[in-house]
Amino acid sequence: MDVIRGARELRARTDAARAGDDEVALVPTMGALHEGHRSLIRRARRARTTVVVTIFVNPRQFSDAADLTAYPRDEQRDLEVCEELGADVVWAPPTDEVYPPGVELPSPDAGHVGDRFEGASRPGHLEGVLTVVRRLFDVTGPCTAFFGEKDAQQLFLVKRMVEREALPVEMVSCPTIREPDGLALSSRNVLLQPEEREQAGCLFLALGEAAELVGRGERDPRTLVAAMAREIGATRLARLDYAAVIDDRTFDVPDHLEPEMRARALVAVRFPSARLIDNLRLPSVT
Ligand code: PAF
Repeated sequence: MDVIRGARELRARTDAARAGDDEVALVPTMGALHEGHRSLIRRARRARTTVVVTIFVNPRQFSDAADLTAYPRDEQRDLEVCEELGADVVWAPPTDEVYPPGVELPSPDAGHVGDRFEGASRPGHLEGVLTVVRRLFDVTGPCTAFFGEKDAQQLFLVKRMVEREALPVEMVSCPTIREPDGLALSSRNVLLQPEEREQAGCLFLALGEAAELVGRGERDPRTLVAAMAREIGATRLARLDYAAVIDDRTFDVPDHLEPEMRARALVAVRFPSARLIDNLRLPSVT
């Protein structure tokens, strides 16, 4: 496995792979790799490709300096995980290689979808994600890129950027991996104190409750949001940031669930030591 720091070196490596008739699979990460990342790397590995994992804690997607400092980092362990899973290349660049001083990189617009949910709670976060992902795509070149569904709004906006800018990237979204109590795997989970961890299953409970209500015939998103808020409100250490129901194809909030709609419930919760997000596709309605 090659560990590459420079942008030019990465581009040379992926160009050589493509010239040798290999395809390139890209798994973008911020490190602190967990079972969710492992599932993305395994999925990328299945194809006959050169698998590139990027490890870069992107400062531009953190609106809070303390959050950036606290973000878990363990490059040595991450490299071991990538090696074990058969990645061919890890790109773990210093900041200057991602954001070369004096160079103005494209900063894609997150539009009105970027102003709500994660965008409202973490101003500049989604623009920061799009900027870094656009840079990762540019340096890697044509590739298939693997993203987790846990960050649904990020995934929606990256897919939209790829479409709008006709980038030579095939997007593959992969299911969220969960702990036995339903907690979605996230690098931030290690920040939770034991009592917070015990209560962190409330996000999945809330989402499950919304799905159950839809299964029982509920069509009003407000009722679903209220039920999710109640579940989080009943969890001592949890503070609801937002709960919402959106149409997956537009990320807009519908007035009613309709048969042709692909609805998704979203939830974001603050615990004293970490903020967690999760989402669940809701059953189709008739
Ligand atoms: O989902 C993440 O880990 C990050 O937002 C990403 C896509 C690697 C960009 O920094």
